[in-house]
Amino acid sequence: MSKNTLGLLILFLVVFSCKSPESAPEIQRGVVAQNAMVVAAHPIASKIGIEVMKNGGNAFDAMAATELALAVVYPRAGNIGGGGFMVYRLASGETGSLDYREKAPNAAHRDMYLDENGEVIPDKSSVGIFSVGVPGTVAGIAAAHKKFGKLPWAEVVQPAIEVARNGYPLTENASKNLNRFQEAFAQHNDFRLPFTADSIWQTGDTIYQANLAETLERIRDQGKAGFYEGKTAELIVAEMQKHNGLISLEDLKNYEAQWRKTIDFEYRGYQITSMAPPSSGGICLAQLMKMTEPFDLKKMGHHTPETVQVMIEAERRAYADRAQYLGDPDFVSIPTDSLLAPAYLTRRMQDFNYNRAGKSTDIQSGTFALTNESTETTHYSIVDAEGNAVSITTTLNSYFGSKVMVAGAGFFLNNEMDDFSAKPGVPNQFGLVGYEANSIAPGKRMLSSMTPTLVSKDGKLFMVVGTPGGSTIITSVYQTLLNVIDFQMGMQEAVNTPRFHHQWLPDIVRFEPEAFSAGLISTLKSKGYLIEEGNAPVIGQVNAILVLPNGTLEGGADPRGDNTAMGY
Ligand code: DON
Repeated sequence: MSKNTLGLLILFLVVFSCKSPESAPEIQRGVVAQNAMVVAAHPIASKIGIEVMKNGGNAFDAMAATELALAVVYPRAGNIGGGGFMVYRLASGETGSLDYREKAPNAAHRDMYLDENGEVIPDKSSVGIFSVGVPGTVAGIAAAHKKFGKLPWAEVVQPAIEVARNGYPLTENASKNLNRFQEAFAQHNDFRLPFTADSIWQTGDTIYQANLAETLERIRDQGKAGFYEGKTAELIVAEMQKHNGLISLEDLKNYEAQWRKTIDFEYRGYQITSMAPPSSGGICLAQLMKMTEPFDLKKMGHHTPETVQVMIEAERRAYADRAQYLGDPDFVSIPTDSLLAPAYLTRRMQDFNYNRAGKSTDIQSGTFALTNESTETTHYSIVDAEGNAVSITTTLNSYFGSKVMVAGAGFFLNNEMDDFSAKPGVPNQFGLVGYEANSIAPGKRMLSSMTPTLVSKDGKLFMVVGTPGGSTIITSVYQTLLNVIDFQMGMQEAVNTPRFHHQWLPDIVRFEPEAFSAGLISTLKSKGYLIEEGNAPVIGQVNAILVLPNGTLEGGADPRGDNTAMGY
């Protein structure tokens, strides 16, 4: 064979091996891997997750390692001082979910954020020590690992310890972020944080977290008790006592993660499994998709006024139900069957009209604006070589949570108490309103929007998906699913596609800036929709995995942040 013929043969093989029938030329794929994949918010966390699996671990081992790595390298949202939700699908097809959401401390009470006139005290539920719920993350990863993990616990905790101790370089995003919060760190802490800058953080500067490394060592050596008892618990309570905070040693010792039944529904022949209360994610997603199903979106077209209108009107209705009915199922009874009944959902869309915007019941409209303060959470998706999948969303709520770091323990505490309804009908930082179902009570979990989701088709795993974004989480997951199922996009393309959001109240549709056609926006305005474009720089950061028809995995890492897909 001549050199030229050999060259042509190699070229032929390269071109055609990349062009299997499922990767039609117009689909611009993300990272594709044969065996396993992690898509997380930071390259170091994705790498740690994938290394654990290369070393014989499964998706649950990788979950613990990735979650702890995020707590080190992505402190704005990755955490051990917060909580989250995990939805899993085993290779056998069995599905389930774990709730490691924070809880109100025992000393919490219904009106704890109101003044003597019964008005909400600004910021009390969202910044500082009073905003902190009893953290759930360490209990969550320990429970998941205990039930399903393969590697020894110490082995999955160790990589995070090493990064905390040996340091990691700041990405551009991370350095900008830390610079923005210097004042808040100084205001809420009376000591120098590992994130306190001498002057200003630059890309590539190294962050060392010795106290966090010690806390992680206690978690490595004592498991859950390394956080909820002994020195770490004492340091948390000492931090509380410094500022009259509410969390006690007993609150910590009593914290348990809960295995929950998932919300399961079918959409156009795909089986969707998502998170049940205390997250509103699964129920709202099911309502959205079932209200959408009768409409032939593909025929109507992607991002056409008609399609966008159907989606907005479904969102309006789902978020109205969220406010009224959803809360912690251990405290309130949730009419799940009624909310998901086909006849109910058909009835809900009966007054939908293409000619004009619907109207949200006007309770608070105009008395507040959606906050522009940035908020954070993080989602990671994992599939292992055995075919197990986990979908995990975890959070401190806002960027760096309450901004309070536990002195001597090196981690931020959440400000999740703001997800409760501090007063019926008064919006929280996401503009979400709630009523009795989500009022504060001792030991109760605050309602979440986190929507870790899995999709199967014909008995096989099809997709793993989720995102941060506060109230926009549910609508971002919804749009990503429609992008793939109705509009046949690949995973990366579906993740990259611009997003919009409506949440009943305020009665405004938010669009990612400069990403939608002027024609679409003006048509919607002419029908009476109130549009807000450009107030929020991005909506969501979806990290997802799609199983391609040939069994390989496509990672969709959201370019709206440092999200990274890694596979092997
Ligand atoms: O649980 C919730 O719904 C919120 N605490 C999530 C916060 C969030 O996603 C902020 N992120 N961008």
